[in-house]
Amino acid sequence: MGIVDKIETLWEKLQNEEWGRYKKSPIGVFSIDGLRGAGILGKVVTKKLLINSKCLDIGCGALPKPFYMKVASDIQFTGVDPYEGDVNRDFEFIQGYAENLPFDNESFDGVVFATSLDHVTNPYKAIEEAHRVLKKNGFLFVWGSIVPNNRQYRTWKANFPTQYNDHHLWAYTKRSLNLMIKPYFKKLEMISLSKRVKIFIFKKR
Ligand SMILES: C[S@@+](CC[C@H](N)C(=O)[O-])C[C@H]1O[C@@H](n2cnc3c(N)ncnc32)[C@H](O)[C@@H]1O
Repeated sequence: MGIVDKIETLWEKLQNEEWGRYKKSPIGVFSIDGLRGAGILGKVVTKKLLINSKCLDIGCGALPKPFYMKVASDIQFTGVDPYEGDVNRDFEFIQGYAENLPFDNESFDGVVFATSLDHVTNPYKAIEEAHRVLKKNGFLFVWGSIVPNNRQYRTWKANFPTQYNDHHLWAYTKRSLNLMIKPYFKKLEMISLSKRVKIFIFKKR
């Protein structure tokens, strides 16, 4: 078996595991209705983007419609995710990877990573791609968990086994996230949902 086939087999196994976890316990995997952070993200996106703006959701999951999309009902979402799932999505969906987005340059007003930037294989490439598909002055929204400090970052894997595993390949401190994003985006705002969970808003450079 070649390397690409091996990776695809492993990927499928991991995705099926995640889907199995979601089916057993929907909370904590995808943005189910009423999830507080998802609701706040929906409001933040609505506040920043104009009515009918086009927004790409990278790692949109496998729900018919994540809660943040329902809250931001004035925005036209397109979702991309490697996982096809087993339900029809109630928004435009294209199966694909963050690292190689199947969209033209400058085709969206906003890009959202909703608890997905810690899942992608190569976040540097994902950010470069988000920048490419965003229009001039477009907004990038990143919702996710942040490691509070460098000491905790060094012991992340041991101390937070559910947040650093086969599905969560990356963990960020505020600083490491900002350093990764800085070449492409200006940081505008950080909204604290809890000590660890944040929403960052960036603007395309
Ligand atoms: C925690 S789920 C969040 C899903 C959705 N945003 C929500 O809040 O309901 C993370 C998602 O990232 C997706 N993902 C993993 N690797 C990816 C990649 N390379 N490109 C795009 N999405 C990816 C997973 O398939 C999964 O659906």
